[in-house]
Amino acid sequence: MVDAKQLPMARGLGKTDRIDSWWASPMAMAAYLGIMVVYATWRGFMEADFWIFSDFGASAGTSTMAIENKNSHVLSPLFSPLIIPGKDGLGSWIPESLWWMSPAMFILIVPAGFRGTCYYYRKAYYRSFFASPAACAVSTPFGDYNGERKLFLFQNLHRYFMYLAVAYLFVLSYDVYMATQFHSGDDAGMGISVGTLVLALNVVLLGGYTLGCHSFRHLIGGIRNRFRNGGGKIAEKCWTACSGLNKNHNKWAIYSLFWVMFSDFYVYMCTSEVWSDLVLIGGV
Ligand code: FES
Repeated sequence: MVDAKQLPMARGLGKTDRIDSWWASPMAMAAYLGIMVVYATWRGFMEADFWIFSDFGASAGTSTMAIENKNSHVLSPLFSPLIIPGKDGLGSWIPESLWWMSPAMFILIVPAGFRGTCYYYRKAYYRSFFASPAACAVSTPFGDYNGERKLFLFQNLHRYFMYLAVAYLFVLSYDVYMATQFHSGDDAGMGISVGTLVLALNVVLLGGYTLGCHSFRHLIGGIRNRFRNGGGKIAEKCWTACSGLNKNHNKWAIYSLFWVMFSDFYVYMCTSEVWSDLVLIGGV
């Protein structure tokens, strides 16, 4: 066995012999992820009905979760599925006494858990927020990296979040369908608004991100490490298709996150009557 030789390296927080702008990428990522997390948290709490948030929540009598004033139903992905405690659907499973909770509070754990345990995001936020390491050949503040242990074992839950995220794609696809169904009194018809397209693109981007997941790729390939031992042509074709998405998993991760937030922002702007959801085709 050959002895591993450690190259000399500058020691201390952020110390390095690199002379390029190695700090630019982790700083940009920290800003990007920080903005996304703050925005999602603000919007999630906005529809809650306690403390300062009751200015916006159910007591205030307005809802910024879905565009309804164009006879369609364009639901923000941050609030889907729309769980209203004590009401129809999934809400009937939740005690009515929790009416003050925002629908986003019941479901954001799934996308947050899925992204938080994603292999790509782990690299991104370990570098950006924990400087562990901030970049290749840059000294870490907490000693050398020696694996995800102890508390970080929860990262192993990724595959289970992936199952939920795949199911979530069907929920969001249903929302796109609902955004094509227009109703006014007894009249009903199909149509497409800008909001419908915004939600549809959201499903495409989230699909590209979710179906390119490393865990999904393993699952769809037949939960095996080599095709030599069987698995069949169909599993291999699915695995190859996922591999294609997986090559750009980082891009799908970044763009899909942006578009989820933009979709919500679009709904928020339209429900606040700053923008209007233009009906492009059909409607009633
Ligand atoms: S590895 Fe990124 S979503 Fe699974």
